Amino acid sequence: MDVAAPKAVLSQETFGQLRDLIYERTGIRFADNKKYLLESRLTRRLEERNCPDFEAYYHFLKYDPEREREMTALYNVVTTNETSFFRDMPQLSAFAEGVLAEILRNGTGASRALKLWSAACSTGEEPYTLAMMAVEKGIASRGLRLEVLATDISEMVLKSAQRGLYGEYAIRNTPDQYLKKYFAQEGSSYAVRPEVRDLVRFQHMNLVDPSRMKLVRGMDVVFCRNVLIYFDEAAKKKVVASLYDSLNPKGYLFIGHSESLHTISRAFKLVTVNKMLVYQKA
Ligand SMILES: C[S@@+](CC[C@H](N)C(=O)[O-])C[C@H]1O[C@@H](n2cnc3c(N)ncnc32)[C@H](O)[C@@H]1O
Repeated sequence: MDVAAPKAVLSQETFGQLRDLIYERTGIRFADNKKYLLESRLTRRLEERNCPDFEAYYHFLKYDPEREREMTALYNVVTTNETSFFRDMPQLSAFAEGVLAEILRNGTGASRALKLWSAACSTGEEPYTLAMMAVEKGIASRGLRLEVLATDISEMVLKSAQRGLYGEYAIRNTPDQYLKKYFAQEGSSYAVRPEVRDLVRFQHMNLVDPSRMKLVRGMDVVFCRNVLIYFDEAAKKKVVASLYDSLNPKGYLFIGHSESLHTISRAFKLVTVNKMLVYQKA
């Protein structure tokens, strides 16, 4: 008879060590009352790495030659990837009707390209939405090339984003006109059409890694929505400073509607665009 191995228990001390390591690497801060969450999310990793307990798993992450590969798997389980197409329509209308319309009137920062960045793109719904809206706005017909950069720390979501195949739930807020024009129905799934997929370039990028972030420059609009909430103030400051540097002068930054840069950065101007508050590089 098989006897199930006793379930590993995460001690307060090891929770502290794992939490600090995760924070150091991702900026994500697990509060004291989130111990159970970390415990349940990591249990599968212990099994996969044949670690009998959390102490052994922590040791693995610190010292094993395979540690960087395990870090990649860890990023997949500690991140929250909730997203959808056309998430927060009032903000997106401000982007299309306010920001894009202004860019069409006045041109982009420097080049003949409109450069957008979805800086925590999850499974791709956000960057594809931005690409579709920009196409719809007639960017190409005004002689501007459209480039959408989409980055995330989790390799797992990036793989899924690149497939560009979605279920009903992901497209639930998508206006009909977009659904018809930019998706192909494949059974019960919806595939983003290649002409939109080709506009988006997916890349792995950790927002708290300034050495990678400094490679992104010349952006006209950055979306960094619903990720700062997982960071503490120090990590937010670091990320927002990098985002600032990535933008062209007068470029725009959209953060989640429940997020704010109050106490985080004074570098941005808070401007009203189509009744929505948006940050603009001074
Ligand atoms: C809740 S989703 C938000 C997706 C999209 N921006 C939206 O608003 O719908 C948060 C994403 O941030 C990513 N993320 C978390 N920490 C990150 C980091 N340090 N660097 C880059 N991406 C990170 C997660 O992997 C996840 O896909």
